[in-house]
Amino acid sequence: MLEIEGVSAGYGRAGTAVIEDVTLRVAAGEIVGLVGESGCGKSTLARVVTGLHRPSAGTVRVAEVDVRALRGKALRAHRRQVQMVFQDPYLSLSPRQTVRQALTEPLAIHRVGDARSRAARVGELLDLVELDPQVGDRRRGQLSGGQQQRVAIARALALEPRLLVCDEPVTALDVSVQAKVLNLLCDLRDRLDFGCLFIAHDLAVVARLADRIAVMSRGRIVEQGPTAEVTTDPRHPYTRLLLSATPTM
Ligand SMILES: Nc1ncnc2c1ncn2[C@@H]1O[C@H](COP(=O)(O)OP(=O)(O)OP(=O)(O)O)[C@@H](O)[C@H]1O
Ligand SMILES: [Mg+2]
Repeated sequence: MLEIEGVSAGYGRAGTAVIEDVTLRVAAGEIVGLVGESGCGKSTLARVVTGLHRPSAGTVRVAEVDVRALRGKALRAHRRQVQMVFQDPYLSLSPRQTVRQALTEPLAIHRVGDARSRAARVGELLDLVELDPQVGDRRRGQLSGGQQQRVAIARALALEPRLLVCDEPVTALDVSVQAKVLNLLCDLRDRLDFGCLFIAHDLAVVARLADRIAVMSRGRIVEQGPTAEVTTDPRHPYTRLLLSATPTM
């Protein structure tokens, strides 16, 4: 589904590489956790994958299509297939829109269906993320943090993406709400079969839902493997350090 191969990227014209020689794959229906310290380059990699930032080297393929070669219509189609969920749901929702409007917007932008089918789709999406239909009439300020993140997830899923990139989606939430949102993501992945790159700085969070884990340090992937292997038999000293900093594991 997603193939990242030898990708390097930085900022500015003469910018030194922030991520270097990153190779990572996410299969359809697979959740791959990307974990690493603050500033190591996780969000930069997310921006490269979603086409928001150009890599200086390497290739990114989504469903076997090279992202860099895309222009015009093909690029629009690609943007549909790859969606993102961000850390702060408050910032990813407009204060003026109702939930219903926020969920209708991506359908309208990509000209999916008519008014009636869009309304039906919004109902489905609310149901999918376990929100009451009445929540559709509320605005951002009338929602809890967990509800806001559910809306952001529903919005990301509106166009049935094949890949969901989640950049620290539960970091801003209370621990009790975190667990619910993580369970929801797992459940949605089982039902909808999208691939998911799930980014967090907390290994315990990633281990809860990822099939495989990639550990990033200073812009490089230092270790990757099945979750059980990485968390019980870590190879790299940095992974051991992360594990020792996670008492629950
Ligand atoms: N727009 C930008 N311009 C210049 N440098 C940037 C920009 N965005 C990020 N950086 C730098 O790139 C490096 C990696 O940042 P990035 O946001 O990818 O890290 P991260 O792993 O997501 O960190 P966090 O866990 O804190 O979110 C950092 O040193 C950061 O200062
Ligand atoms: Mg980040």
